[in-house]
Amino acid sequence: MSSTDTPTIDIETTFAPLAVTEIEHDTDDSIILTFEAPSGWRFDHGQHVILRRHFDNVEVRRSYSICSRAPDGPLRVSIKRVPGGVFSTWATNDLQVGERIDVMGPSGHFTHDLLPAKSQRYTMLAAGSGITPIISIVATVLEREPASTVSLIYVNRTSTSTMLLEDLEDLRDRFIGRLEIAYLFTREATEAELLSGRPDRERFDALIGAGLFPADVGHVFLCGPMDLIETASDALVAAGTDPIHIHRELFTADQLGSVRSVAPQEIDDTTATIATGTATLHGRDTSFTVYEGDSVLDAVQRERPDAPFSCRSGVCSTCQAKLVEGNVDMAVNYGLEQDDLDRGYVLTCQSRPTTTTVIVDYDG
Ligand SMILES: Cc1cc2nc3c(=O)[nH]c(=O)nc-3n(C[C@H](O)[C@H](O)[C@H](O)COP(=O)(O)OP(=O)(O)OC[C@H]3O[C@@H](n4cnc5c(N)ncnc54)[C@H](O)[C@@H]3O)c2cc1C
Ligand code: FES
Repeated sequence: MSSTDTPTIDIETTFAPLAVTEIEHDTDDSIILTFEAPSGWRFDHGQHVILRRHFDNVEVRRSYSICSRAPDGPLRVSIKRVPGGVFSTWATNDLQVGERIDVMGPSGHFTHDLLPAKSQRYTMLAAGSGITPIISIVATVLEREPASTVSLIYVNRTSTSTMLLEDLEDLRDRFIGRLEIAYLFTREATEAELLSGRPDRERFDALIGAGLFPADVGHVFLCGPMDLIETASDALVAAGTDPIHIHRELFTADQLGSVRSVAPQEIDDTTATIATGTATLHGRDTSFTVYEGDSVLDAVQRERPDAPFSCRSGVCSTCQAKLVEGNVDMAVNYGLEQDDLDRGYVLTCQSRPTTTTVIVDYDG
């Protein structure tokens, strides 16, 4: 297949080998990748795609947020090198234009319904690579809600480690007066004392007080490490923000209780059965057996290798399904919001049945 062929695979449900058409070197340790557009490419602001590659025959899947304007901006992602990180080190050091990477998506809930006729105020916070979904949300809101305004705090170690800086400044120039950006550096002094140093609770209270991180807004979007998001969120709630208006996205969680294996455990005649079930996936019902130690995803994946997953640690929500019958215990949940839970969704990578029958619907 030449790099100009547009794959016709449905990349929402199946990996498609897409060619990288451009690699921009952004900061010392990050790149911006553009892929050829798959046929009918559309996404919601704040969503991500899953990239898959085999390293020494071991399959690795990683999520990367789309950093362009929805719904039809380019399939563009920005990857920051994580020290010792398998995928990000390869991508930032060795990946070449023209190479193909398996891509699936878009997916994710870090988004909201736009109201083009309304004037809304937004508060956003990004730390490091957390800017990637945030810039998509900012660009989309400014373009498609012409009366709305955005206040963004962007936390980085130093000015030189600030990803997507040019893109952000372009947006600020293009939508004059509607996008306010405060760059906060943790390891660099700036003229404004408020914008250099640890982003702790005291600083967030001060940022709210100074009007740089407004609490009286229609929507808040936060993306960064868990402790930072929690600190910022607590400060906003204390200043009057309704928690229901706060949307959060995590990129990583090293939590206890997660299931991180990439394939289901091997079972033998001695492994105890704890439940049986049925999964609806891509329009087809498949029966499965849950063995001691399995998550629901493990059990489904044993019968259906096309079961969707990426992080297997409760963060990305790729493995979500509707629980139609039975009950499960979710070890952790960083991917689903309260209204998803209320509608019966579970993260199957974190779910262990507490009933002898479970029915899940991945298409629901
Ligand atoms: C929904 C979602 C969207 C994401 N979007 C982006 C994005 O747009 N850009 C981007 O660069 N990354 C993004 N990530 C993170 C990305 O998926 C990978 O986790 C990251 O690139 C590291 O993968 P790796 O294989 O290089 O590291 P691994 O080999 O998986 O990890 C190596 C070590 O680094 C730690 N680690 C993993 N990720 C991070 C991290 N982000 N920060 C600090 N330590 C980490 C691990 O715990 C491990 O100890 C996103 C993650 C999620 C869940
Ligand atoms: S695979 Fe990421 S939350 Fe389950």
